[in-house]
Amino acid sequence: MNLYLRLLRFAYPYKTKLIFAMIFMALCSGAQSLSAYLVKPVLDSIFFQKDMSKLYIMPAAVIVLFLIKGTFEYLQGYYMGYVGQRVVTDIRNLVFYNMQRQPLSFFDKTPTGSNISRIVNDVSLVQNTVSDSVAAVLKDAFTIIGLVIVAFRMEWKLTLIAFLILPFSIYPIVAFGKKLRKIGLNIQQYLARLTSFLHETITGQRIVKAFSMEAYENKRFTQENETLFRIVMKRTRIRALSHPVMEVIGGIAVGVVIWYGGREVILGNSTPGTFFAFMASLIMLYEPIKKLNKENHNVQQGLAASQRVFEIIDREPEVLEKPDAAKLGKVEGVIEFDNVSFRYDEKMVLNNINLTIAKNEVIAVVGKSGVGKTTLVNLIPRFYDISQGLIKVDGIDVRDVTLNSLRTNIALVTQDVILFNDTIRSNIAYGVQPDEEQLFHASRMAFAHDFILKLPKGYDTIAGEKGVRLSGGQKQRIAIARALYKNAPILILDEATSSLDAQSEIEVQKALENLMKGRTTIIIAHRLSTIINAHRIIVIDKGMIVQQGTHGSLIEQEGPYRKLYELQFREGARKKVIPIGKKH
Ligand SMILES: Nc1ncnc2c1ncn2[C@@H]1O[C@H](COP(=O)(O)OP(=O)(O)OP(=O)(O)O)[C@@H](O)[C@H]1O
Ligand SMILES: [Mg+2]
Repeated sequence: MNLYLRLLRFAYPYKTKLIFAMIFMALCSGAQSLSAYLVKPVLDSIFFQKDMSKLYIMPAAVIVLFLIKGTFEYLQGYYMGYVGQRVVTDIRNLVFYNMQRQPLSFFDKTPTGSNISRIVNDVSLVQNTVSDSVAAVLKDAFTIIGLVIVAFRMEWKLTLIAFLILPFSIYPIVAFGKKLRKIGLNIQQYLARLTSFLHETITGQRIVKAFSMEAYENKRFTQENETLFRIVMKRTRIRALSHPVMEVIGGIAVGVVIWYGGREVILGNSTPGTFFAFMASLIMLYEPIKKLNKENHNVQQGLAASQRVFEIIDREPEVLEKPDAAKLGKVEGVIEFDNVSFRYDEKMVLNNINLTIAKNEVIAVVGKSGVGKTTLVNLIPRFYDISQGLIKVDGIDVRDVTLNSLRTNIALVTQDVILFNDTIRSNIAYGVQPDEEQLFHASRMAFAHDFILKLPKGYDTIAGEKGVRLSGGQKQRIAIARALYKNAPILILDEATSSLDAQSEIEVQKALENLMKGRTTIIIAHRLSTIINAHRIIVIDKGMIVQQGTHGSLIEQEGPYRKLYELQFREGARKKVIPIGKKH
């Protein structure tokens, strides 16, 4: 009931239209009764009295009545549909907005397909409840009330007897409803599972094909699909069962009424005419009750889905802005990590990190794979909240300012490049009206301009989903251009040039070095050749900073950095190609 009221509350802003819809519904019902009422004068005047003048008036009246009824029906359908669709559109927006408020940890834990399924499948089911079922339930309820009044006026005793049975027919409606809601929730959860399976296998087609795993994936999909079939069959069983159960109960009511009513007629307390009129209204009552039962099924399913929808709408993000969060202006770019520890759920990644990065400093972070470099930089824009300690930008705790104002100050090139299925232009000038000159400048700096111009449609070329139509190095250069276009005081480059060939890397590096002037820059790199010029190099191991200094100073010390350097140096030496025919 609570869920239902909550859904109805969404209709509140459209109450005028809803009231219109109800008025038209009532008028439509009225017109319908009137058309039934017309049967009597038609019969009497045309067929019994053979009145020629009525022969023209009556058919015309019938046509006019149906025209009026049709108009009311159209208006009712339109307004009801309008309100239903509006409510669903609003709910869908709300789900998306609140999903976007969630921190990355939420998306780490819930599969993409499952999130998509909530916005697509679940909200669609809610639509049935709101628009279609509400209208149908109201209509049937009106009809039932009307017919009960008629029956009561004819034979109140019999009506009472017939309605003694009512609780027995209400009970299965409620019981089946409850069951259906539970199964409905199960079905929606399963649909979400199926959607995430699909999302994964469709986006992963390259790997599926490369490993010839089509048959394997087919088998997995069939299994999932069969499970869904079994759950849906549970629903089918209940739906199929509910109708005969209702009918048997109706049969019992009719049986009792025949027994009692017949007895009354035989004893001379009632006439056969009254009895049959009563029976007729009882049978007519059956139709809307049956429909009500069927609508109840849809409502229950919609409510089950709305439960899943509200789960997202009500979800408070773990990374929250304080209610009195201030706006952070354009910063100088001083970043401080004060005793920072961080864990992803149970896994401790960073342990007591103390680090101050000065304004305009270029700092490089190195360390083995999986040691927590990306995690470290992810904490600055508050993608995740730290478990312990303090992170400050320009002396201000990042938790005291709005996320938006904090992130505006940071430009980021992520390790796995993410491009949108949009033009290169919109990808670089993401979310803003592109300024051509600035756009070209950023692309030139990222050594992307030339190759972009060579693409079939230049800057208007579509990058493809996740940028599939571009090579790895091209994607990276566009990501760099995007970060440069943002022109923020803090620049974070996480393996930003790792996919580039040596020549391009040197060139991009040169451009980046120009750019780093006047900004605080954090570079994460495995290839040490790209960070030799950094003001300071930080070496991370086992979640802690184990070494720091300039390349020159670190190389002189016995320690992890020198080990790393020697390893790469030797590797480089081994790979050195000796030109044929040349003696060395
Ligand atoms: N979203 C996440 N949820 C849970 N654990 C994570 C998540 N991301 C990373 N980890 C774990 O945290 C550790 C640090 O990961 P991180 O990505 O920071 O490493 P990295 O130093 O950037 O490695 P690489 O050089 O390979 O990019 C890893 O051991 C990883 O298992
Ligand atoms: Mg990383």
